[in-house]
Amino acid sequence: MTNTAQATIGWIGLGRMGEAMVKRLLKGGFAASVWNRTAAKATPLVEYGATLAASKLDLAGCDVVFTMVSTTDDLKEVLFGDGGLVTGAVKPKVVVDSSSISQEGSAEIRARLQAMGVGYLCTPVSGNAKVAKAGKLLMVSSGPRALYDMARPYLQAMARKVMWVGEGELARVWKIAHNTMFGVVIQNLCEITVLAEKAGIPRHVFLESINDSVLGSMYTRYKTPVLTNLTFEQVTFTPKLLLKDMDLGMAAAKSYGVTMPAAAATRESVSRMVGRGHDNVDFAILLQETASDAGLTLVSENKVIDDGLQGR
Ligand SMILES: NC(=O)c1ccc[n+]([C@@H]2O[C@H](COP(=O)([O-])OP(=O)(O)OC[C@H]3O[C@@H](n4cnc5c(N)ncnc54)[C@H](OP(=O)(O)O)[C@@H]3O)[C@@H](O)[C@H]2O)c1
Repeated sequence: MTNTAQATIGWIGLGRMGEAMVKRLLKGGFAASVWNRTAAKATPLVEYGATLAASKLDLAGCDVVFTMVSTTDDLKEVLFGDGGLVTGAVKPKVVVDSSSISQEGSAEIRARLQAMGVGYLCTPVSGNAKVAKAGKLLMVSSGPRALYDMARPYLQAMARKVMWVGEGELARVWKIAHNTMFGVVIQNLCEITVLAEKAGIPRHVFLESINDSVLGSMYTRYKTPVLTNLTFEQVTFTPKLLLKDMDLGMAAAKSYGVTMPAAAATRESVSRMVGRGHDNVDFAILLQETASDAGLTLVSENKVIDDGLQGR
């Protein structure tokens, strides 16, 4: 495999993120064989040129296998569990993982893969499935620089920007820090939106003002439609996955001896939201929880809002 010849590519994990990402790869002209635990999610990708793999082991002959699953344990399961990707005699050359997992879990996975002669690049992402669909992800890698240089053309097909932050598990730390801010920002955005509304400012007017202020961001803009129209059933990211990430943030803070009071308060708020049973809904339902704590009943404002994420 050289930097110019196309590697044979395998893909494991076709949830919200994996599906959107592999579609960008296929649309970018790369061929890929795909596998998902729930096979029905893989079938529609044939239309985009994907080849269906009957099992994880069927992808073991690929040069590069991308993985996008939920947790550290799920990644271990697809790699080393029953029928796992690297459990046969044939192994892929490189595994590129984009799941949001812990630094420690990632280091353990690296050591196990390395012992088998399989390269490993961590490449977590910034952006939800809609961002991925629009080709606007940021992908941040760590691991051997040569592996990053090899994988870069494939990453560039899926992202607006790709970066390498160093060796080992540093990209995991980057992602944990990123998602801690992701939680803290939504927590505060919900608090101030409820404050403004209770005082009498319509939500869409307040959010428009924040989006156009120095504090506005791609994130505040793409959460504005759901916060205005309360369409929490359109899931981008679940409360449970956000709690996992806040817990990863707090564990990293503890291990590095960093105090994170804003993140700690947010972690508790997210945990309460999960404890109240909000499961298969968007994490922006935190707005409703915050309003309820303030004795405010929210109604949809039914506005058509440009979130700045038109596909390309
Ligand atoms: N959604 C976002 O906005 C976002 C943004 C950035 C990063 N992330 C991170 O990206 C990862 C995926 O998120 P997502 O939103 O795409 O989640 P998701 O929609 O729940 O998809 C999870 C995927 O992992 C597979 N999976 C989970 N456990 C597995 C196991 N033990 N064995 C085999 N397959 C397994 C699922 O298979 P099934 O289809 O069979 O369930 C599915 O394909 C997470 O680590 C998340 O934190 C998410």
